[in-house]
Order: sequence, then structure tokens, then C-alpha cells
Amino acid sequence: MYRTNTCGELRLADAGKKVTLAGWVQRVRKMGGMTFVDLRDRYGITQVVTNIEHDAALNESANRLGREFVVQITGTVAERTSKNPSLPTGDIEIIADTVTVLNPSEVPPFTIEDESDGGDDIRMRYRYLDLRRNPVRRNLELRHRMTMEVRRYLDSKGFLEIETPMLVGSTPEGARDFVVPSRMNPGQFYALPQSPQTLKQLLMVSGMDRYFQIVKCFRDEDLRADRQPEFTQIDCEMSFVEQEDVIELFEGMAKHLFKEIRGVELNEPFLRMPWADAMKYYGSDKPDIRFGMRFVELMDTLKGHGFSVFDNAAYIGGICAKGAAHYTRKQLDALTDFVKKPQIGAKGMVYARVEENGNVKSSVDKFYTQEILQELRKAMDAEPGDLILILSGDDAMRTRKQLCELRLEMGRQLGLRDKDKFACLWVVDFPMFEWSDEEQRLMAMHHPFTHPKDEDIPMLDTDPAAVRADAYDMVINGVEVGGGSIRIHDSELQAKMFEILGFTPEKAQEQFGFLMNAFKFGAPPHGGLAYGLDRWVSLFAGLDSIRDCIAFPKNNSGRDVMLDAPAALDPKQLDELCLDLKPTE
Ligand code: AMO
Repeated sequence: MYRTNTCGELRLADAGKKVTLAGWVQRVRKMGGMTFVDLRDRYGITQVVTNIEHDAALNESANRLGREFVVQITGTVAERTSKNPSLPTGDIEIIADTVTVLNPSEVPPFTIEDESDGGDDIRMRYRYLDLRRNPVRRNLELRHRMTMEVRRYLDSKGFLEIETPMLVGSTPEGARDFVVPSRMNPGQFYALPQSPQTLKQLLMVSGMDRYFQIVKCFRDEDLRADRQPEFTQIDCEMSFVEQEDVIELFEGMAKHLFKEIRGVELNEPFLRMPWADAMKYYGSDKPDIRFGMRFVELMDTLKGHGFSVFDNAAYIGGICAKGAAHYTRKQLDALTDFVKKPQIGAKGMVYARVEENGNVKSSVDKFYTQEILQELRKAMDAEPGDLILILSGDDAMRTRKQLCELRLEMGRQLGLRDKDKFACLWVVDFPMFEWSDEEQRLMAMHHPFTHPKDEDIPMLDTDPAAVRADAYDMVINGVEVGGGSIRIHDSELQAKMFEILGFTPEKAQEQFGFLMNAFKFGAPPHGGLAYGLDRWVSLFAGLDSIRDCIAFPKNNSGRDVMLDAPAALDPKQLDELCLDLKPTE
């Protein structure tokens, strides 16, 4: 038997017991004739002690242990004279009888401590060592507990966990695919699924009624803190449901997770916000509503007073930062630089402070009388001590997005985005389509299988851009943690959607014939949703990036630096796959 107990288990009540522990050497300290070894495993740390006076040879072998050696020790549990209240095992130590090295270790390239001295890159290269650190290990434990709760909840609601294939066909629409060449079908390629969307719909046609899968999805997109090229969805689909049924069931799941994992009871129904309001008041389809600072449109108030920037604007909007009038010129300049960053792209920022006497002082005072500035103050509902920040631009949507970035930055600077506070909502009534400048055509905002709102169906022919969808996203603290829709189950309506999206009937048949044909054989009304597991875990763990809750993530260039992937293929493999490579730069 390698061990009788783990390194996190023993307490004062165990004093006197003979035990065997196995684990990694965290630290070795010599004090006089005594040697203290901190032995670590997944469960905790236990102090082991040897004494030169009791057994000089044993003490000598303890002294020779290096960091991260794998050792087995036997000994007796004893009460410590100097206790360590910060360790659960801090009341005891093991008086060692034997110390056996099971495997030595080279000196690790960084310290395996909560606050490691290793940079990002080196920790990723040696991710298996990084995973020995408490903060990273804890995230994986949390992830495990969350998937267990998800399975428990969905099982209790009658969902079946069904696997769908990873080698599927490439689909247009959506992100770029990762593709896999087929040796047995030269010149042909599989794609890795961006989501099991069409397959779960086929499972509904097959009568499975309630399906879920905790499933890897693959998208060749540019990476951000909340995006990985491979990520995990909690993917669900239900038959004979309307939007309200889906929302109720998955809001229930969110509440279940909050209760079981975070100990937070959310009793109120989640707020529902139409997409149009989210864009109007927050400039985002995933608003962070932990704090206010809603946008106020200021076209009527500020246009037409000779300030050409505003006079020529298609949109002028402001936010009111409560109690931030103390912002110095330097801080305001920094905010202006922030909105002018190329990623945000604003041309400038106008500010106005409401002084203690109620007067408004702005950065464009020479164009506005105090009377107009008081109107501004009224429109913004600003009080003495508040700071008003204003952006304008010639494209309303773009300017709102810039104002959204400014609002989030102000929220951050003013400490309003507390990670332990959660604000959940559903964004509903999404537009069915959005215009793509790149493709010069309408694209499905959610995906082409989404059902239009019944009352908007007549507009499909006359004004498709105004059609709204039975689609919904769940947003928590400004993060889109999930999204779904009611699906089209009628092959004719589905064909019409493809037509609006610019597919010829032949092309639609070629790409999606399998689905439209299936719909001819008794497809039930159905709908569903997918949650992003990585985003849920990182939200609950308070992480800035989903990377930290993934065992082996990719870096920002989509590389696995530990496996050194992607990499060139052996010419023999290329040959087998009938692939010729174009030279790259
Ligand atoms: P969608 O594309 O909105 O919907 O994805 C569902 C959820 O998956 C998460 N997510 C991601 N997480 C990490 N990295 C990524 N690159 C990434 N992309 C998406 C988000 C998102 O809300 N088939 C539909 C769902 C449905 O209609 O049922 C779908 O895939 O949390």
C-alpha cells in the first residue's frame, strides 16, 4: 500500500496513529538537529519531521530531499509544539520512521507556490507542473464540481446525455472551421464541429426529446480572454417547447449552480432585456448591469450650438459617473487616450463636471452657455460631484460600442465591477439577421436554424432586417454565458431562410439537405441552448481569462506550447493524405 492517508487528512484526533503518506516535497527546512519536510499532494500539505538525535541516517536522507521529489514516508502522527493555523493539518506533524524516494525530480523551472515566480510562457510549457499549484488545481476541481452538478440537474429533468461525432462536415455561416483531411477519401476533409447544432436537432427528429452533452467545440476565431479555439459547451435541446419553457428550465439550472457551487440563492426571476434596449442603453448585447451608468442620448441637447464635432455627429451619448467629479485633468486625459486606442477607435472625449454649487464646467465650455449645460445636467440626471463623459460619432452603432468600452472602464476604475457580485439577465428579441459589410449580404445573427418571431414572419419578404428571432442569451456580469433559440422545424421555412441568406436552392440542398430532408419526416417543434462551461467556471472562480480553468489551454496565438502544436507534418503523412503545401511566408 503506497499510503494510508492523504496529505490533507490528518488532525489532532489522529495523534498516535502509525501512517504512511506519499506525495511531493514542497520544502525542506533544517533547524538545529531537526529537518522539516512539507509533503504535498492534491489534498493538502503535511509536515514531516526527522531528528538527528533519534536517527541520524534518516535525518540525513531527509536533508538530501530536493523540491518536487516524490517520496513515501511512514511515521507516527504527533501534536505539534508550534502550530500553524493557516494549514488544516497545522496542529500535527508526522514523526518519520522511514523516508523512501519513489522518484527524484530535477529542479523545477519555477516555484510551485500559490504566487509562482514563473512567467506565463514557462508555466504553459510546463503546464503539468503549473497544475500542481493550488490556484490552478482549485479551478479544475471547481470545473469538476460544476459538471457534476450540471449532470445531476439535467438528469433530474429527464435529459439524456448523448455523444455526437467530432468528425463532421464543414458548414458555412459562423466562424471558420478546423478541418481534418481524410486519407480514405483523398482530397476530402472533415471539419471539427463548431457546435453540435444540427446533430442535436436531428436527435429531436429522432424523438430523443431531451438531450444534453458536455462537449468540445472548435472554432478558428481570433482569441480573446473569453475565447479558446477549443472550448466546452453544455449543449442542450428539447422538443415540444416554446421560448418560455427553455428559459425557465435553464434559468433553473443557473440558479441551481449558484446555490450548489457559490452558496448564493437567487430567488427573483432574471431580468429580461430586449436586444434593442441593451444596445441603446449599454451599447452591447451583453451588458454588465452590476452598475448603472446607462447611456443617455444627447442629440437634442448638444447639437446645433456651433461645436462642429457634435453638430456633424449621427450619435451623441453620455454616461454619468456618480461622484467622479474629482477626476483630475491627468486622469481625464488618460481616459481620452483610452477611448482613442485603435481597438476602440473614438476620435475624442468630452467631459463635464458638476461642481459643488451646481455649476457645470465642461471641456467645451466655449460652445455652450451655462443654461445649455444645465440642460445637459438635467438630461444626465447628474448631481453635484458627478462627472459626465460624452462620445459622439458618425456611426451610431460604432459610437455606442465605444461608449460601452468607456462605461466598462469607468466601472472598473470606480470599483463597481465586484467579482463577488453577480448580475444575471436574459437578452431577448435579437434581430434575425445582421448585415455583413465583408460579405455584402444578410447573415444570421444567431444561426440559420433560428425561428423568427411568429408575428414578424410576414416581414421576411418585405423587411427582413427588421425581423426578430426567438433567440435568447444569458448574460452574467457582462459575459455571455450561454445562448440559444427556438428552431425552425418546417422544411419550407428553413428553405426560405437559406434563400434570404443568399443560398441558391442547390447550394442549400448541398450544405443542409440532410437537415431539410429530416424535417420532412415529422420534426417536432424544438429549441434549446448551449452554455459555455469555461465561461461559467471562470466566472465562479473570479478569473480574468477562461484559460485558467482549462487543464491544457492554447495561448493567444492558438498554440499549445507544451505539445508544440500545431506543427509541420511529415512529408510521408502529407503524401498519404494527397496534400501538397503552398509555400508560406
Ligand atoms: P453560441 O455560438 O452562442 O451558440 O455558443 C454558446 C456558448 O458557448 C460559449 N462560447 C465560447 N466559449 C469559449 N470560447 C469560445 N470560442 C466560445 N464560443 C462560444 C459562449 C456561448 O454563449 N449552437 C448554438 C447554441 C444553441 O443555439 O443551442 C451555439 O453554439 O458562452
